[in-house]
Amino acid sequence: MYDNNPTLEGIKTIDEAKQGNVLFKEHWQETSEPGGRKFYIESYGCQMNFSDSEIVASILHEAGYSPTRNVEESDLILINTCSIREKAEETVRKRLRFFETVKMQRPGTVVGVLGCMAERLKKKFLEEEKLVDLVVGPDAYRDLPNLIGGVEDGQRMVNVLLSREETYADISPVRLESNGITAFISIMRGCDNMCSFCVVPFTRGRERSRDPYSIVSEAAGLFENGYREVTLLGQNVDSYKWENPETGERVNFANLLEMTALVHPKLRVRFSTSHPKDMTDEVLHVMARYDNICKYIHLPVQSGNSRILEMMNRTYDRPWYEDRIRAIRTILPDAAVSSDIITGFCSETEEEHQDTLSMVEWANYSMSYMFFYSERPGTLAARKYPDDIPEEIKRRRLNEVIRLQTTVSLRHNQADIGKAFEVLIEGDSRKSDQDFCGRNTQNKMVVFPKKPGLNPGDYVQVRVKDCTSATLLGEIV
Ligand code: 5AD
Ligand code: SF4
Repeated sequence: MYDNNPTLEGIKTIDEAKQGNVLFKEHWQETSEPGGRKFYIESYGCQMNFSDSEIVASILHEAGYSPTRNVEESDLILINTCSIREKAEETVRKRLRFFETVKMQRPGTVVGVLGCMAERLKKKFLEEEKLVDLVVGPDAYRDLPNLIGGVEDGQRMVNVLLSREETYADISPVRLESNGITAFISIMRGCDNMCSFCVVPFTRGRERSRDPYSIVSEAAGLFENGYREVTLLGQNVDSYKWENPETGERVNFANLLEMTALVHPKLRVRFSTSHPKDMTDEVLHVMARYDNICKYIHLPVQSGNSRILEMMNRTYDRPWYEDRIRAIRTILPDAAVSSDIITGFCSETEEEHQDTLSMVEWANYSMSYMFFYSERPGTLAARKYPDDIPEEIKRRRLNEVIRLQTTVSLRHNQADIGKAFEVLIEGDSRKSDQDFCGRNTQNKMVVFPKKPGLNPGDYVQVRVKDCTSATLLGEIV
């Protein structure tokens, strides 16, 4: 999943700026309509944001715009922003400076800020960053054509209303930058969890679940178009719940997972993100029943220490988390588990930091996304707790977690040497067009020499010969 998913891949490392904790990917698809209006969109942040950009593209397409990868020829420049850490916002501000120069060369170009920063900063954007014409929050994308019209009439436009209902269920996303094999399907929006460090409940609003039948039909449509893997996306997929207002039919996440798995046995199903407080055995049993549901769970722990978890308002403690890992080991013995970790949260002691290290070791994560704590204005933690761990200490602890996770990942991969896995071919490997790459069920990237007659979208058996901490290297059997 992560090769085509820079949002997640980049988050692994220490130096967020260099390694691209906030990654941007140009979204493009050349079109040949002469004279039509063109939009350019850049996305930052989580996969949900990239998924939203595909909804925006669909809405703009309906309004007569076509996408371009060339910012200099666009009539409309959009930046879909992330607020999760301060660094993410800094990166966006830098890009806005760059768009200012583009706009100077092409007066009349409309520049718009979408997504989480739009929500967080609202009108401030129009006041402070004079170059921005348009500010649109994540629940207001349907209003884009109307807002663009307002800008063309000489106004600066804002719509940052959050909704309790909007799920964009009826909008068929335009797959912007796609390998044609793997796709993301957004199954819910918003978040009701209120983790004390997190800005998401403020920027994306209340949790709401999308009609399961629209999800299944999107998955079926993708399969018909040659896609072979879908990832169901939500901030907390385990709390997915939908009720048919007329019949009273209820669908929970385990039901949805099963409905999607039934689309076709050759359509792989993944999902992200699970919350330890909500992940049920029912979901694990559904995973066990279907070969095409991938045996991989992203179950962020955030901290290995119960006092810190309580301050983070995660609503579970370490023993609870350990119990969930044990359930996975029992019901799905071959599943890989990954995590998100924050170092240097308010008042974290060295001993508590050691608990996080011991958790990485104990849980045997195949990989983790690791961050140091970044205080976000307006969050529970910002209001309640001083951000009192000096940055050097946060970074040092982060380095220690990364170093340990790299060792654990390498060990995890070494244990696969000699095993054969079914791999879904996604395309050429990054390094060589003589090699294919694809993932196994555990979400590990596997690189192997091509053989004639095989194409992206095919499933092959690959035996692992060697590995690094990030990749398995093998040969087709
Ligand atoms: N500081 C650092 N990391 C954060 N995350 C969320 N908010 C913050 C913050 N304020 C991390 C969490 C989450 C992931 C998506 O980003 O680990 O799971
Ligand atoms: Fe960033 Fe969170 Fe918004 Fe995603 S939901 S774009 S991670 S702030």
